[in-house]
Amino acid sequence: MMLQRADWAFLFAVVLVVLLVSFLPSPRDQNPPIPADQDHRTLAEEKTCSACHAAGRSRPLSDRHPKRRDCFRCHRQA
Ligand code: HEC
Ligand code: HEC
Repeated sequence: MMLQRADWAFLFAVVLVVLLVSFLPSPRDQNPPIPADQDHRTLAEEKTCSACHAAGRSRPLSDRHPKRRDCFRCHRQA
């Protein structure tokens, strides 16, 4: 099979779109980071977060906060 000029143009466009999308800012860059304080420095597991950030604990999440449990996907470590 011979690649025509239009095929190369199409391939180039595909590569360009993939590159552009990969450089879009991820939401993780905008969400508040996990503070680098004594409370958080030693935490490596998401399930320990609820010791303080569950309802009724010292620092509960607001009602608007997403209910997902994968904290590290949205909050980067400072
Ligand atoms: C020992 C209690 C404690 C634990 C455990 C804890 N936190 Fe926190 N967290 C706090 C307190 C208190 C604050 C507010 C103090 C501050 O802003 O520095 C806070 C603030 C935050 C903030 C910043 C909020 C803002 O407004 O900027 C994020 C994000 C956060 N915690 C995520 C996490 C995640 C993710 C985990 C699990 C890896 C976790 N925390 C575990 C006590 C805790
Ligand atoms: C789907 C993305 C997402 C996930 C998953 C997520 N968060 Fe957040 N979190 C956010 C956003 C966005 C904000 C900022 C909310 C705002 O400004 O009102 C935030 C804010 C916070 C705050 C600041 C106080 C508040 O209630 O607004 C804390 C503390 C926090 N997150 C902790 C956690 C913990 C602990 C987990 C895991 C149980 C977690 N987050 C999972 C997106 C997420």
